[in-house]
Amino acid sequence: MSNPPLKFVRVHKHDGISWVYLNRPEKRNAMSPALHVEMDRTLEELEVDTDTKVVVIAGEGGNFSAGQDLKEFFRGLEDKPAESKRMQEIANRWRWERLYNYDKPTIAMIEGYCVGGAFMQLLATDFAISAEDATFSLSEVNWGILPGALVAKVVADAVLYRHALYYGCLGDAFDGKEAARVGFVNRAVPPAKLEADVTELAHKLMAKSPAVLRATKQAIRQVRTMDFGQATDYLAAKNAAIRLNDPEQSYKTGIHQFIDKKSYKPVYQPFPLGSMITDQSKK
Ligand code: ACO
Repeated sequence: MSNPPLKFVRVHKHDGISWVYLNRPEKRNAMSPALHVEMDRTLEELEVDTDTKVVVIAGEGGNFSAGQDLKEFFRGLEDKPAESKRMQEIANRWRWERLYNYDKPTIAMIEGYCVGGAFMQLLATDFAISAEDATFSLSEVNWGILPGALVAKVVADAVLYRHALYYGCLGDAFDGKEAARVGFVNRAVPPAKLEADVTELAHKLMAKSPAVLRATKQAIRQVRTMDFGQATDYLAAKNAAIRLNDPEQSYKTGIHQFIDKKSYKPVYQPFPLGSMITDQSKK
């Protein structure tokens, strides 16, 4: 049975990039239960979609997301414990487990409002680029709950302790430049350049060996909670694992292209994809 058409999510595929828009612009892309179900399904599908090399998470109509829908996600589920639990699981799954462990590179593109629970997908993605004039807020303290779901945890992990306490406890709105300064996003750019900047980053990522890029992002995430002994062992095993399942044969190809062919400089660019060595070309 095929899935029903998407209503609260819009996907635009172009040139290897899948642009995934939360699509409730009239509600500033506040996240309702139905939207969570569609996002979970969409990300599951795109992870194995061969046309999708990079996923961008964005919001329709000029806003990233005003966080959880207070009416539909909170009040609407108050007297429905089973449904509430199911929805929390789905909401957390796409905003954290799926995105945090995603096989493909992910970028959050922030404009307009990015509030409360939207910090989950903001911080689960690999990269985030914001418009300078975007508005961020951990608003929960202003209306009566802790930062939503895992937000307190992911914020505390992402930025300096003092910034986490300050913005978590004050709820003050701040702009994209401040978000870049404290480390919620990689950089803030003029609004007119936002999409082009995200596209350029996506193309840079697509030019790299997918197997090496995937292992690199997984490794950087996993070692954060390991001690040195565990990290040494894990990273050695991870490096060896890349060579077992890498259509580009990146290690051999990269060295061959630099040492023998002198075709590129690793400091300035990746080796060209599709240039893996064969027995004929080895010499
Ligand atoms: N939940 C439910 N509805 C929302 C939400 C939300 N989080 N955010 C906006 N809306 C709705 C409004 O109720 C309004 O609906 P209506 O047209 O039916 O009245 C519509 O979206 C537009 O919102 P306005 O407030 O009219 O838009 P404005 O541009 O003036 O303000 C702003 C936008 C600042 C984002 C404001 O809506 C706001 O403060 N929203 C609450 C954001 C918030 O605190 N989110 C955190 C939720 S907690 C969590 O995520 C864990």
